Amino acid sequence: MHFLKDRGFALPSSEITPHAVYEGRRDLLKLLAAGAAGAGLSSWAARDALAQTAPRPNKLAALTGARSTVAGAMTMEKLTPYQDVTTYNNFYEFGTDKADPARNAHTLKTRPWTVSVEGEVKKPKVYDIDELLKLSAQEERIYRMRCVEGWSMVIPWVGYSLSELIKKVEPTSKAKYVEFVTLVDPKTMPYVGSRVLEWPYVEGLRIDEAMHPLTLLSFGLYGEVLPNQNGAPVRAVVPWKYGFKSGKSIVKIRFVEKEPRTSWVKAGPAEYGFYSNVNPKVDHPRWSQATERRIGEDGLFQKKRPTLMFNGYEAQVGQMYAGMDLAKHF
Ligand code: MTE
Repeated sequence: MHFLKDRGFALPSSEITPHAVYEGRRDLLKLLAAGAAGAGLSSWAARDALAQTAPRPNKLAALTGARSTVAGAMTMEKLTPYQDVTTYNNFYEFGTDKADPARNAHTLKTRPWTVSVEGEVKKPKVYDIDELLKLSAQEERIYRMRCVEGWSMVIPWVGYSLSELIKKVEPTSKAKYVEFVTLVDPKTMPYVGSRVLEWPYVEGLRIDEAMHPLTLLSFGLYGEVLPNQNGAPVRAVVPWKYGFKSGKSIVKIRFVEKEPRTSWVKAGPAEYGFYSNVNPKVDHPRWSQATERRIGEDGLFQKKRPTLMFNGYEAQVGQMYAGMDLAKHF
């Protein structure tokens, strides 16, 4: 994550046709949504249909969710194509190149899988992943995602608010922060032997951030279970923060009194802060955060887009940071 790299990979030719079909269907659905074919579909219905019918190779198990009614959870922006969402990734356990996770993460075994919810809670519990999946109703949420490196995507996630799980385990008054510990398995993760980061990958949130309805525990995207490279079988998604706050392949959720020491803060405390709220006014020490490149529309003449405060979620989350110096608490 220390450098901004161009996309150094090409799509295999076998995947070009389905992608073209997918884009064609998107246009058709847009027309339908606009009423051109008299189908009376709302644009939301069209998008739901798209998420569930887009043809592509290696289809995964279906995991659908009802359209979320959480405020801010459904941006109307154009979705980033599935192909980009699943081949341009950061998952350092599988390599540091953006194409490495899609190439290497097939080794990750997502069953059996447990998530231990522990620490400052009245009801600690080790959840089997299939029990965790059914703990609350799955929703579809379309979130803007902004990586600290300067690129962004729009992704239809499937999951439910982390707060649903938190309520079940009943945090004590000492639970001020939530720490996410992700899998470290040298047998299936070729890069956890490297010193690029300290493993396991650890992330954290303040308890109010973790309880915020937009904070998602995600099990799927595009109407299917998560591909391994996107953090199967379960990950966090925190759309107003830089992407690295959204830990993948979570095995432990710990409620703690002190601010967790997260992997990126340990790796570069002057560059990556605990809060890491998307903020166009607070630059990374080595690059500006004022603009971003939207993956999937980065043609030669494509203009960068302005980055939005809290990634566009200020109305929903701004209040949590009232009175805080965001340049100091970056
Ligand atoms: N989680 C783990 N376990 N390991 C990682 O390397 N990378 C983070 C985050 N979660 C990472 C992780 C970063 S830097 C980003 S931008 C997002 O995952 C990328 O998620 P995506 O590949 O699904 O878009």
